[in-house]
Amino acid sequence: MKNYLSNSRLNLATNSLDWVMGHTIKQSLSLKDAVPLDGIQQLAVPEKPIETLYIHIPFCHTLCRFCSFHKIKFNEGVAKTYFKALRQEIRTVIAQGYRFNRVYIGGGTTTILEDELIKTIELIKSITTIREVSCESDPIYFKEGNPHLLKGLVDRMSIGVQSFDDKILKASGRFEKFGSGLQQAEYVSRAIEVIPTVNLDMMYGFKMQTPETVANDLAQTIRLSPDQITTYPLTVGIGQNRKKAGCLAGQPEELWPQFLAVKEALAERYIMEFPWTFSRNFGQPVENKYVLDGEDCFGVGSGAFGRFGEQFRISSFDIPDYIERIQSNQTGTSYTKPLDNKALLQHHLMMMMGHGLLDNAQFKAHTGKTLWQAFPLEMSYLISAGALNKQGSNYVTTPAGQFIGLKMFSGFLAGMDFLREQARELPLSMKSDSEASANNSIANETKTDSGIIV
Ligand SMILES: C[S@@+](CC[C@H](N)C(=O)[O-])C[C@H]1O[C@@H](n2cnc3c(N)ncnc32)[C@H](O)[C@@H]1O
Ligand code: SF4
Repeated sequence: MKNYLSNSRLNLATNSLDWVMGHTIKQSLSLKDAVPLDGIQQLAVPEKPIETLYIHIPFCHTLCRFCSFHKIKFNEGVAKTYFKALRQEIRTVIAQGYRFNRVYIGGGTTTILEDELIKTIELIKSITTIREVSCESDPIYFKEGNPHLLKGLVDRMSIGVQSFDDKILKASGRFEKFGSGLQQAEYVSRAIEVIPTVNLDMMYGFKMQTPETVANDLAQTIRLSPDQITTYPLTVGIGQNRKKAGCLAGQPEELWPQFLAVKEALAERYIMEFPWTFSRNFGQPVENKYVLDGEDCFGVGSGAFGRFGEQFRISSFDIPDYIERIQSNQTGTSYTKPLDNKALLQHHLMMMMGHGLLDNAQFKAHTGKTLWQAFPLEMSYLISAGALNKQGSNYVTTPAGQFIGLKMFSGFLAGMDFLREQARELPLSMKSDSEASANNSIANETKTDSGIIV
């Protein structure tokens, strides 16, 4: 009975959180105030290195039903031209004086043209002193590609598995292209032999999942001993993706028992870094760096976002427009958006909830405010939802608080979806009439099966 009551209280609390986050996202991430960047206008280059150079590769062979990341159906000609433009943008950014500590190559499918990926990483290594390269890949690359060629170039590979359950793979459109769960386990084990640090992306919150099937999926994952496991709650977004991913999603109240199943399944061999990322607790210590750890990031490539200081930067989401901008020596960033302090603080709160510790002194040193001054409503909500325990002048998260942190993370993913949806609608700053007709011919080649550029 006690368990039932606390579950219903938590469900009430997280339902109202979903509602508030939807509103907050629509307000603070609206691109109505985005400012176009024209010509070769340059933005101030920071003196200190920016933590991450994010590189986006927007191509996939076929598209998964739940995914709202920026990608189009693969076309070799367009992808080759794209990679060339990308390298030109990277050269320009480095020549302008930007410095980075590490590189994260995300997609889409970054390994879709292995030789182009290799050329791009080799270029970066030859003109920068970055200390780590992370990449995302699908599992089939480790069957069909030559991953040994990435030795010495890629330090960390994040591979999307999502589930080893063939029913889920079929429902999400991944079985046909990446094979059965058993086959994918075999491909992933090849990756683990070659790449120094491997992360496996797993997902839960699908309609046909239960705590038991989630636990089975993770038992299979653990047998492969990856360095890290990311467990994404299926996010349905707040815009158009809602319908597509929503058809696959289970009921919101099913997520809490599945989250508990994730924690229990991983508890013995993995440490929870955030409620959505786990690192193995055996062997060599794992260096933990995730693209979303709140540090500054500069994005290159079509559909990349970047943020440093109080500014958000958006690169053109139209691939022909992006290529055209780079070929005519324009910046890949086509819009900037000022970020208000409230949005930055909300992000900070999500990261603290994720870490499991709200450290008052550290927060004050960083922002000049105490937790209660910065978040009077949020703190009252978190305390009444049983999410925090007081420890001296700090607060630590309870399991309910970890779950609320996870829901905040899902809200963050939904916010990124919302940004992508708006960014696709922003006017293209580059197009003159003749360029528009040239671009249309590439655009026609980049349509998906359904004829929509995603
Ligand atoms: C952009 S994908 C790139 C990885 C690679 N293309 C693949 O699918 O194997 C990165 C990860 O985002 C996660 N993801 C994609 N759509 C999601 C959604 N709607 N909700 C939660 N996670 C999602 C998946 O776990 C996926 O592996
Ligand atoms: S999940 Fe990966 S493979 Fe599937 S559409 Fe998204 S980026 Fe492409």
